[in-house]
Amino acid sequence: MGSQKDTYYLTTPIYYVNDVPHIGHAYTTVAADVLARWRRLGGDRVHFLTGTDEHGQKVAQAAAERGMTPQEHCDDILPRWREMLELLRISNDDFIRTTEDRHEERVQEFMQRLYDQGDLYKATYAGPYCVRCEAYYTDEDLVDADLCPIHRKPVEQLEQENWFFRLSKYAPLLLELYDEHPEFVQPDVRRNEVRAFVEGGLEDISATRTEFAWGVPSPWDPEHVFYVWFDALLNYITAAGYGADDDAFLRRWPADVHLIGKDILRFHAVYWPAMLMAAGVEVPMQVYAHGFLLVGGEKMGKSNATGIRPEELVDHFGLDCYRYYFLREISFGHDGTFSWESMESRYTTDLANDLGNLVNRVLNMVSSYRDGVVPAPVGAAGEAEAQLAADREHAVAGLAAFDRLEFKRGLEDLWVLVRGVNRYVEARTPWKQNKEGADADLDRTLYECVDALRAIAVLISPVMPDAAEELWAKLGLDEPLDAQRLPEAGEPGATPPGVTVERGRLLFPKLEE
Ligand code: MSP
Repeated sequence: MGSQKDTYYLTTPIYYVNDVPHIGHAYTTVAADVLARWRRLGGDRVHFLTGTDEHGQKVAQAAAERGMTPQEHCDDILPRWREMLELLRISNDDFIRTTEDRHEERVQEFMQRLYDQGDLYKATYAGPYCVRCEAYYTDEDLVDADLCPIHRKPVEQLEQENWFFRLSKYAPLLLELYDEHPEFVQPDVRRNEVRAFVEGGLEDISATRTEFAWGVPSPWDPEHVFYVWFDALLNYITAAGYGADDDAFLRRWPADVHLIGKDILRFHAVYWPAMLMAAGVEVPMQVYAHGFLLVGGEKMGKSNATGIRPEELVDHFGLDCYRYYFLREISFGHDGTFSWESMESRYTTDLANDLGNLVNRVLNMVSSYRDGVVPAPVGAAGEAEAQLAADREHAVAGLAAFDRLEFKRGLEDLWVLVRGVNRYVEARTPWKQNKEGADADLDRTLYECVDALRAIAVLISPVMPDAAEELWAKLGLDEPLDAQRLPEAGEPGATPPGVTVERGRLLFPKLEE
């Protein structure tokens, strides 16, 4: 009985455990989580993978600096990464460490296969190497003769006899892949970059290392450990069941999308598909490379001392604002600058004013005019209601931009609805309807507002799970929020009249000084 793919499978890079997480790492992770939650909301079966990249020289060096064995070091740092996932409410279905048996054993089998079929050969290589990138460069890649193009730090000259992977052999197939599947590398600017790189000529790459032992040993030549990138990239299939659980693997693979930063594009869009082609495994459907998060104009990273930790921001702005801010402020494929001021301004304008005040205002009115009980919509629906319905449709349709990883766009469209409800309240002046005893009209107004808030709770849930749950609880709805599915949950009229709302605390209270 053959099973087939029925799962939306998405991944983040696996992060080096040379250090603790900063907001750059969290950026990819949160975006992936929003996508995972969005797809679940649409009814997909989702498998969301993240994890840690624990082998290689860089991690070994970090361990040595701390006077620990690499494994001790990894075990010691790992909780910091798990805490980040918890803090940010990341809903990953699996977490892979490359030091797990389930990974190492499959890596050996995969590489043995490439070896057996003649895709690996022994040769000597000399060239510039950046340990921070764990990558060889060519002289043309370097900046100012000896600086790594990513880190702007001096590279090392490495000369080694290694096992080489016949990458060059796959150049024609890779070009065919980029041309026949333009969606394989996204955004387009990244596809063009990768295509030009491959067209410029591919050299074979070193697949093993000998000058340190912290890696997966090659089964046929145990003096060699696999180059950390071969080991790391394979996590996407070892964690999905490759070679261990065929049924699970067939349901998940090929991955729908690997989310990565543009710094690791070449590995994912060139090496990775070539490795898979060599082993006769399908290539992923998409590699999406987002831009860098900049702080004061520079890429966030450990080395430039701008490493801001997510908890510093979550402490001040709260989880929901943290998750919302980066996706709303920065267009995902481009570089973007983090600043405290712009985060403050998003909090105040979009969250506290547009959304928080709206919720507070509507629930206050239901409480004071109708004792908290949501009335049935009896008054006639007119133009204002039609506009509200249109805004709602706009939001639901617009959020589909998330499928294309255009988070900013999707959130802008969602805010058309949030602002639309604010305008609706202004247009209907429920306080006047109340004063004038226009009961039927007031019932209509209140119902429409609450019903729109119900939809908003569902629509914000992939991005702001805490606020969504709190709002949902305030609305006194019986069904659980996580049972809601789009598009039905966005339709008007799903709120049962007669439910009792509760004002509770403000959703986005004033920030502390
Ligand atoms: N271990 C490799 C990836 C192996 S995947 C098979 C690695 N790890 S890393 O810890 O250095 O993380 C790199 C990733 O972290 C980037 O691709 C990106 O997803 C994220 N980011 C790290 N700094 C970032 C910014 N300043 N801005 C945006 N994303 C950043 O590379």
